[in-house]
Amino acid sequence: MSRVVELRRFERVGAHSHIKGLGLKDGKALPVAAGMVGQTEAREAAGVIVNMVREGKMAGRAVLLAGPPGTGKTALASAIAKELGEDVPFMMITASEVYSAEMKKTEVLMQAMRKAIGVRIREVRKIYEGMVTDLEIKTGRHPYNPYQQVPMGARIKLKTRSDERSFNVDETVATELIVRGVSRGDVIWIDAETGRVTKVGRCTEAPEEVRYDIESVPRVPLPGGPIAKEREFVHTVTLHDLDEMHARRGSVFTLLFGGREEREIPPEVRQSVDEMVKRWVDEGRAEVIPGVLFIDEVSALDIEAFSFLGRAMEGELAPVIILATNRGVTKVRGTDIVAPHGIPLDLLDRLLIITTREYTADEVREILKIRAAEEKVDLDEEALSKLIKVGVENSLRYAVQLLSPSLEIAKRKGRTKVTGEDVEQAKRLFVDVKQSMEYLKKYEERLLK
Ligand SMILES: Nc1ncnc2c1ncn2[C@@H]1O[C@H](COP(=O)(O)OP(=O)(O)O)[C@@H](O)[C@H]1O
Ligand SMILES: [Mg+2]
Repeated sequence: MSRVVELRRFERVGAHSHIKGLGLKDGKALPVAAGMVGQTEAREAAGVIVNMVREGKMAGRAVLLAGPPGTGKTALASAIAKELGEDVPFMMITASEVYSAEMKKTEVLMQAMRKAIGVRIREVRKIYEGMVTDLEIKTGRHPYNPYQQVPMGARIKLKTRSDERSFNVDETVATELIVRGVSRGDVIWIDAETGRVTKVGRCTEAPEEVRYDIESVPRVPLPGGPIAKEREFVHTVTLHDLDEMHARRGSVFTLLFGGREEREIPPEVRQSVDEMVKRWVDEGRAEVIPGVLFIDEVSALDIEAFSFLGRAMEGELAPVIILATNRGVTKVRGTDIVAPHGIPLDLLDRLLIITTREYTADEVREILKIRAAEEKVDLDEEALSKLIKVGVENSLRYAVQLLSPSLEIAKRKGRTKVTGEDVEQAKRLFVDVKQSMEYLKKYEERLLK
């Protein structure tokens, strides 16, 4: 039996939660499908990219989504992520995040790239599996802080349909049991070698003290067979996860306190992780899954970041890179060179470019209807046509953003249906980017004093 351990994923998709995929059928875009409306050529092109990624034919290449603000570039990227499925890593960053105070920009980019490469590892591990029938944590005084109690070990009893066993476990396992919040009636696994504890769920045959109407842990049956067993696991981790694991190996403190500090990873660590992964692949124990790194608003990157990207794309272990921009011809940051989208020409040469176009009023209507349903905002006809007008004249994003404030305004007036008047009021309260720029320009002198 194998289990896929879910990948950690960085979701920044609040505004795109209605997008479930590209909405293609045999490579053709349906007018409205999977939360997607219109933009058919771009969606079909994105479908080709998805197939190429799946077939491993995109290695070392990059895609550029170019189009005016609010034309669905980020939405397309989220749709691509959905189409690729859970197992293919998809990492989304905005170019400005690269400039952080804690890390060099090349390090941020490198980490992002390595978060976008999955390694699917198969391993057979010896585990102890069963429902917890008894659990007693032994605590003792902290060696340096007499006021604090720390776990010293535990006694735990596990049960399956045909087996029952007690274990004395050391402080590492005891800590794991506490951290995972294990209690009587939970089905757990303990890794025989590392002592890592996995909480599978609450046993359907757990002796119930309290029954909750809503539970956050799944219900699972009482396992059969012996307590000690071998099981095949399929983990998908990212190269970055492996880097982190290697960089802090041997440090008990990170295990205990679990804190994930943001820091730079030494190049030797990456090198040895790469070698290890290649060895695993050669031995047939692992598979590399190149995922996608999406960099939004890419014109904000500077020349150094671009050259780093260009070089990294050539590497053996590189993800597919998708860039997005709404800038036309502009200066490449850090230089005086003017180039299309502010992207250096040598990189531009290697990009497959997909353009997105402005929406028609009918398309804006469809998108707003889907988005309103997603946010559970009930619009009357006048409110919808006001928002469509905003979507066409200002921007689609601004129209989408006005949905929730409009609902709040309606609620304040004791209504659940949003009217045109509520939309007008929301528009007055929350200006769009253009208006706020004009405001700032007008009052610049006074504001900057
Ligand atoms: N073709 C589309 N179908 C459905 N929703 C869309 C579509 N295009 C854009 N949206 C939605 O409209 C809003 C603005 O689009 P967004 O992707 O942020 O534009 P961009 O990244 O090009 O500035 C988002 O909420 C997005 O999900
Ligand atoms: Mg965007």
